[in-house]
Amino acid sequence: MATERQPEPLTVHIVAMRRRYLRSVLNIENQVYPRPWTMSLFLSELGLRGTRAYFVAKVGRDVVGYAGLMVSVDEGHVTTIAVDPAWHRHQIGTRLLLAVSHEAIAREVSALTLEVRVSNTAAQAMYRRFGFTSVGVRKGYYAETNEDALVMWAREVDTPAHAALLGRIAEGIRGETINESARRW
Ligand SMILES: CC(C)(COP(=O)(O)OP(=O)(O)OC[C@H]1O[C@@H](n2cnc3c(N)ncnc32)[C@H](O)[C@@H]1OP(=O)(O)O)[C@@H](O)C(=O)NCCC(=O)NCCS
Repeated sequence: MATERQPEPLTVHIVAMRRRYLRSVLNIENQVYPRPWTMSLFLSELGLRGTRAYFVAKVGRDVVGYAGLMVSVDEGHVTTIAVDPAWHRHQIGTRLLLAVSHEAIAREVSALTLEVRVSNTAAQAMYRRFGFTSVGVRKGYYAETNEDALVMWAREVDTPAHAALLGRIAEGIRGETINESARRW
């Protein structure tokens, strides 16, 4: 269904993650991560509304991906981002990272950070397009596979230059993205 490089334009809805989506979220989580988050971890994250924002991407009624943001003072941490393997390369990760970026900016964050497996070159490529650069390595960060994490940062995300970058990324998306989350952009 979803492996070709130039897929048909999709209409994707971005909505706030709610409890009712968690079964679908966990289904994706269990497919893509060697140490998946549990239902109770997602529930506890959803409970921390002041410092967290979680989104799901939907195609029709199907949840096809999700992403999360944690804010501490003026820094944002991308806590997770994942797309159903059947829907990879449909710019769904890109749409989710746009949603997270706009949410972070709306919450007056000036820099975004994340960890990513050294071997995960696909995700690293996506992050680099969003202005993230690798600033260091956390040795053995992923204990279950004893794999190192790259620590990546995107700085000055609150500047016009970064807004222009996000605008260019959004313009490159084929199809429509409908943001139904509380925040508009
Ligand atoms: C990383 C992930 C979220 C990307 O989602 P996606 O919807 O497939 O990504 P997009 O279609 O928006 O691709 C965005 C960019 O990422 C890069 N990319 C994504 N998948 C790639 C792949 N398999 N190989 C190389 N680059 C890839 C490309 O630069 C791509 O841009 P392009 O299509 O213009 O070349 C998805 O692969 C995933 O869920 N992986 C498993 C979970 C994971 O690794 N999460 C990140 C943890 S830090």
